[in-house]
Amino acid sequence: MVKIDNITLPDFPLLLAPMEDVSDPPFRVVCKENGADLMYTEFISSEGLIRDAIKCRRKLDIFDEERPVGIQIFGGDEERLGMAAKIVDVTNPELLDINFGCPVKGIVAKGAGSGVLKDIPLMVRLTEACVKSTSLPVTVKTRLGWDDDTKNIEEVAERLQDVGVKALTIHGRTRCQMYKGEADWTLIAKVKNNPRIHIPIFGNGDIDSPQKALEYKNRYGVDGIMIGRAAIGYPWIFREIRHYLDTGEQLAAPTVAERVQVCKRHLQQSLQWKGPVAGIYAMRRHYLTYLKGLPGIKEFRNRLVTLNVPEEIEAVLDEVLRAYDGFEMAHTPIQLVNYHEKCPL
Ligand SMILES: Cc1cc2nc3c(=O)[nH]c(=O)nc-3n(C[C@H](O)[C@H](O)[C@H](O)COP(=O)(O)O)c2cc1C
Repeated sequence: MVKIDNITLPDFPLLLAPMEDVSDPPFRVVCKENGADLMYTEFISSEGLIRDAIKCRRKLDIFDEERPVGIQIFGGDEERLGMAAKIVDVTNPELLDINFGCPVKGIVAKGAGSGVLKDIPLMVRLTEACVKSTSLPVTVKTRLGWDDDTKNIEEVAERLQDVGVKALTIHGRTRCQMYKGEADWTLIAKVKNNPRIHIPIFGNGDIDSPQKALEYKNRYGVDGIMIGRAAIGYPWIFREIRHYLDTGEQLAAPTVAERVQVCKRHLQQSLQWKGPVAGIYAMRRHYLTYLKGLPGIKEFRNRLVTLNVPEEIEAVLDEVLRAYDGFEMAHTPIQLVNYHEKCPL
């Protein structure tokens, strides 16, 4: 097993990455039910939390069935980040995560996100401010460094551990790389193999199949992996990886019934969390991703996205079930979208 302070996770835990506009409570529930061991909220602005911005506060919501969950915050001012950590503390997640990886210009310019990769003393002070402001375990998610000439993650890891960070997730790219090229896990492995490091080290970047998860586990020796883009529209990635790690065998692709069940579950959670109107709208972008690969599914999807009554949506989903009864779903390679400048991290 892997321990993050007082949180016990299974051996080689599979983490759902924090993803803006993606890792919300309804999506996290379906990931949890399909094998994610630890999940994070999308990043939340410390300034927004302090100003009581309603949108930010809503991001603190956690359904009990998705625990353990970490709340991720960002900010470039020690005092303000500490204040935000205190707010997070009272909302009772299992842990608090600090984002030192976001490459978006507006955030970097305020010295937050991956902006601190150019100022390690500031990064350490920001982390200390959080650790002192909360009784929750504090973890950090970051990148290898600012650019190719400043890949300082080895020093960063030691210094963060020294000020009380309980686990570190490293995305194998620099800030300047954004999403370009392939994630480089060799430095992540070096951090893991540093005898001074005793906190769990999680690797992140480009995991898109059970085979790759096993290969990277063996090659880089990390304590667990975090999965982002591959889980979007495909929460089954977690159970497929776990099964492959345990047995060496590829699970069959999710059946039509399982896909429909996840759609319904996501819809129910979305209604519960966002309410009857926003919950229906929020769900519209998900139908096609879950049902992708079924010939002619767009016709059903076009109907699903025009309906406003949950029972009518569920009735169309039941029609899908009947229409594709016995249809054998095949595995198709997961495409990792290259977000580059458009993406928050
Ligand atoms: C749509 C999207 C939103 C993201 N938002 C965040 C975020 O809020 N906080 C964060 O630390 N990383 C964020 N990331 C980065 C992911 O957590 C992860 O580090 C990155 O996608 C690489 O992992 P992957 O190759 O498994 O996708 C985001 C990524 C995507 C694709």
